Amino acid sequence: MTMWELVRGLSDQLRWAVDVDVPQVPDDRPVVVLGMGGSGMAAAVAALAAEGGRPVVVHRSYDLPSWAVPSGALVVAVSYSGNTEETLSGTRVARDAGLPVVGVTSGGRLRDLGVPVVAVPPGLPPRAAVGFQAGGALRILAAAGLVGDAPAALEEAADAVDAVLGDGDGPAITLGRDLAEALRHRIPVVYGGFPVGALAAYRWKTQVNENAKRPAYSGEVPEMNHNELEGWAEAAELGIRCVGIVRLRDAGDHPRVARRLDLVAEAVGDRAAFVGEVRSVGEGPLARFFTLAVVGDAASVALAEGLGVDPMPVDLIEGFKRRLGPG
Ligand code: F6R
Repeated sequence: MTMWELVRGLSDQLRWAVDVDVPQVPDDRPVVVLGMGGSGMAAAVAALAAEGGRPVVVHRSYDLPSWAVPSGALVVAVSYSGNTEETLSGTRVARDAGLPVVGVTSGGRLRDLGVPVVAVPPGLPPRAAVGFQAGGALRILAAAGLVGDAPAALEEAADAVDAVLGDGDGPAITLGRDLAEALRHRIPVVYGGFPVGALAAYRWKTQVNENAKRPAYSGEVPEMNHNELEGWAEAAELGIRCVGIVRLRDAGDHPRVARRLDLVAEAVGDRAAFVGEVRSVGEGPLARFFTLAVVGDAASVALAEGLGVDPMPVDLIEGFKRRLGPG
């Protein structure tokens, strides 16, 4: 499968999760969701949809947060390959402490640890399996009593993604291609409002990094208004017009966040090469996230294409893991 086909397959991945078998989990605990990279993104997307009176915390590192064992947390380990050492380390700590643990994986050492898993289809780059992984994690959070109607949220997100992708060249693809053209010789800086737009901005950044093999950065509103914004004041001296801004606007943005996003464009607009904008579609956080993110997925693949880069391999990441050696 090409990366374009994988981008277009996002809604099928979300629909797959509607019926997938999910192990039983306790429904009275706080939750830690472990994951790195593309799987950490999936963990964070699922956590966006969590509601109810218990915390759901995404942990992107080794071991567990200090409160997890004393509070008897439910641990959800998300690793597409099942071989990511940070995620495996937290899983082992949880298992050895007797915490309830469940995985979302296509195999690897995570499955060999003997924890119950949601088994996702294998053979994809993890970042291109985000629909499977987020859907599986969401279903686990629903089983834990933290998401009201996960199938409805997944169907809504899949329909919204289908609508923006269209049959061949829907608005997400054309906008993604246009933004890729504008960003071709520029460093993308993507801003979005906490929580949905900001997470989608981070997905944009990581997709440009991994697919187009280029630096890209993301920032979160309102936080960046308290620090990063000032960094634009003298930016012109650095030839900063090589930076292109993309603003992600979510219908669920807090009204003051929406206002801040308007003002960010005014404040830094003429210091950047251009300011582009993408708007979310849909009601639920999952639909809104994925309709922002899929434009970035398309932009990152179009950017790779324009630069003559193969989006599939991540040789630097793999080489880095090899140099690090077994953990
Ligand atoms: C590669 C990718 C990476 C991986 C990360 C963790 O496509 O997206 O960010 O997701 O190295 O690996 P997994 O997901 O296998 O735990």
